Formats: sequence, structure tokens, C-alpha cells
Amino acid sequence: MKAVVFYEHGLLDKVQVTDVPKPEIEPDEILLEVKAAALNRLDLWVLAGWPGLNLKLPHIMGSDGAGIIAQVGSNVTDFSVGDRVAVNPTLGNDSDYFGRRGLDNMSDNFAILGEHVDGFFAEFTAVPARNLLKMPENSLFIEAAAASLVFVTAWHSLITRGGLQAGETVLIVGAGGGVNTASIQIAKLAGAECIYVVGSSDEKLAKAEALGADVLINRHEENWGKAIFKATNRRGVDIVVDNVGAATFATSLRALKKGGRLLTVGNSSGPTFEFDNRLMFGKHLSIIGSTMGSSADYETVMNLIFNGRLQPVIDTIYPLSEGLAALHRLEEGNVSGKLVLTP
Ligand SMILES: NC(=O)c1ccc[n+]([C@@H]2O[C@H](COP(=O)([O-])OP(=O)(O)OC[C@H]3O[C@@H](n4cnc5c(N)ncnc54)[C@H](OP(=O)(O)O)[C@@H]3O)[C@@H](O)[C@H]2O)c1
Repeated sequence: MKAVVFYEHGLLDKVQVTDVPKPEIEPDEILLEVKAAALNRLDLWVLAGWPGLNLKLPHIMGSDGAGIIAQVGSNVTDFSVGDRVAVNPTLGNDSDYFGRRGLDNMSDNFAILGEHVDGFFAEFTAVPARNLLKMPENSLFIEAAAASLVFVTAWHSLITRGGLQAGETVLIVGAGGGVNTASIQIAKLAGAECIYVVGSSDEKLAKAEALGADVLINRHEENWGKAIFKATNRRGVDIVVDNVGAATFATSLRALKKGGRLLTVGNSSGPTFEFDNRLMFGKHLSIIGSTMGSSADYETVMNLIFNGRLQPVIDTIYPLSEGLAALHRLEEGNVSGKLVLTP
């Protein structure tokens, strides 16, 4: 079967679209005929590799997918061949403290499909049945794939961990990214009073406005820290969503009002940085980190996708055979929302 793989870690020159054997399934798994897969910045981190990431090579890339069940394992009773399913990318189990509480994202052997094991940039993939969610007949594979990872992450961060309340103000650092476009919509749905978005271009900011952003700040045209200070009458915001890290964290902390929360799930511009701790205790701030989401978060947010109250932003759909071109687009960063692959 056709798949987007790499045989060694590195840059995009290590990625190839090639033929690999169709996977065999375990008793608790199903074989998914992938109808749509979506890209995430994570794909590039996995390609680069890090100490402790020991992948079976070649590695099939991609953490997001949806499709039709082509085969069911001998232990699978609640799904059948032909079912249309979305896949929760978080792997977990019921055998440890967090897993038993549905917190797969905190369980001992937490893993992500496409990160630690083979993923969705292929014609078929093997998936544990416990990760499946049946899709309503009228829902689209491209939307289910585009939504899964970023929406469960943003929901868990903003709602479950961040405790966003109606009437609060939210600043989102970055306009067009997958997590950010999800975060804007979730903040709107949760009743945020004002959503400030800092973006790299007017075009991306216009799209953010269409998703629900109220105040738009182009970071190449103005000092966004000062702009937030001014726009909030020198008070700051209740919540900042900052998945950029080194380049923005210090400004994000300053943009919070007293008692504010900085929510983070990533660090696209670098993981290590300094900040002035006096801001933390002097302003009673909290930094709340999280990764992915629980299975309950996944089901909640995907049902909001299926009923149309949230909608993944899809930038471009590529055929699987052009997976490498899509990965180059992702790397360049000139993307509003998600890049999707279809067979
Ligand atoms: N822990 C988890 O569970 C989890 C899950 C998903 C993602 N992540 C991480 O979260 C991060 C975002 O993921 P993604 O898939 O949404 O990535 P993405 O689609 O590539 O988006 C990156 C975002 O960062 C913004 N950005 C980059 N550099 C910036 C800077 N210097 N100043 C301000 N904004 C900047 C971009 O802003 P513009 O759009 O305005 O250009 C864009 O919105 C990644 O680091 C990813 O690994 C973590």
C-alpha cells in the first residue's frame, strides 16, 4: 500500500511516498481504510526525532485520520466492517491510575498515533478499537481528520484544564495555526467576552475574525504586548493561549491581568526560555500545561464538530501521493488551518 514514510530521522529530504506492507491487526484493533488524514506540526518534530523516541522504521507519519473499517480484530465487538469512524489520536489503557479515569493523555504508557507508532499517511492503518468514535452519516472524513488532534488538545487546555468561563477575556498568540484556529472557536463557544488574536498577516487575521476573534493585532506591524495593554485599559486578559514558547512567553505573561492563566501545549519557537518570576507571584499568575485530552474530551469536542457548532478550518486538501508537498507547506508556515491528505 502507498504511504508517506521516513527510514531515518532528519529533515523533509528523508521523507518519501512509497509502497509498504499493509498492516496486520491485533485482536483489539481494527484495520482502517484511511479516507482522510491531517497534518500537524508534530509530524515535523517526529521526523526530526528526540532522545528516547525509538520508532520502528520505516515510520508511517501522521497523527490524524478518519475512515472506514475494513477489518475487525477477534476481540472487537462494538464496531463492524463498513463503519465510518473518527480516531482519537491518544493511545492509553485502563491498567493504571490515570488510564482507569479516562485520562489516557496522562497514563503511564501515553502515546500518540503517528508519533510513537505508525500513523495515518497511508491507505490503511491498524488502530485500537478503544480509540474509535462512530461518525454520523452526514459528517465528513476530511473534517473529522482535520479536527481530531487540535480540537481535543484545545478543548482540554481551554475548558478542562484552563476552566475558561463565559465573560472572560482571551488572548491567542498566533492566528492561523491548527490549535489556534480551534482555540478561537472554542473560546467563542464558551462565551468569552473578548477574544484578542495576534497574527502574522492581515489575511490570517481576517480569517481569525471570521472564526470569532474580536480584536486583531498584526505582530509584524505593531508591538503586540503594548497593543494588548492599551486595548485592555492597562489591565490585561484573563487567559493567554501561548503555544509559541521562547519567542512570546515573556510578553504573554505580561499580557495577563492579575490572577490570569497562561495555557500552553507547545513551543513552536523553542522550549527553553527565561521569564521574570516577579510577574508570576506579583500578579498571582498560573501557567497551566497540558497535552492532548481525555477520551471524554475527545468525544465531547468531536460531537460539537459533528453537529456543526465547531468546524475545523481546512486550508488545502492534497492527494496522499503529494504528502511531501503538504509537509513542505506545513514547514513554511504559510497555512491557515489544516492541511489534509486524501487517498
Ligand atoms: N501538547 C499537545 O498535546 C499538543 C497538541 C497539538 C499541538 N501541540 C504543539 O502546539 C504548537 C502549535 O501546533 P499547531 O499544530 O497548531 O502548529 P501550527 O499549525 O504550525 O501553528 C503554529 C502557530 O504558531 C504561531 N507562531 C509561530 N511563531 C510565532 C511567533 N514568533 N509569534 C507569534 N505566533 C507565532 C503561528 O502564528 P500565525 O498563524 O499568526 O502565523 C501559528 O498560529 C506546536 O508546537 C505543536 O507541537 C502540542
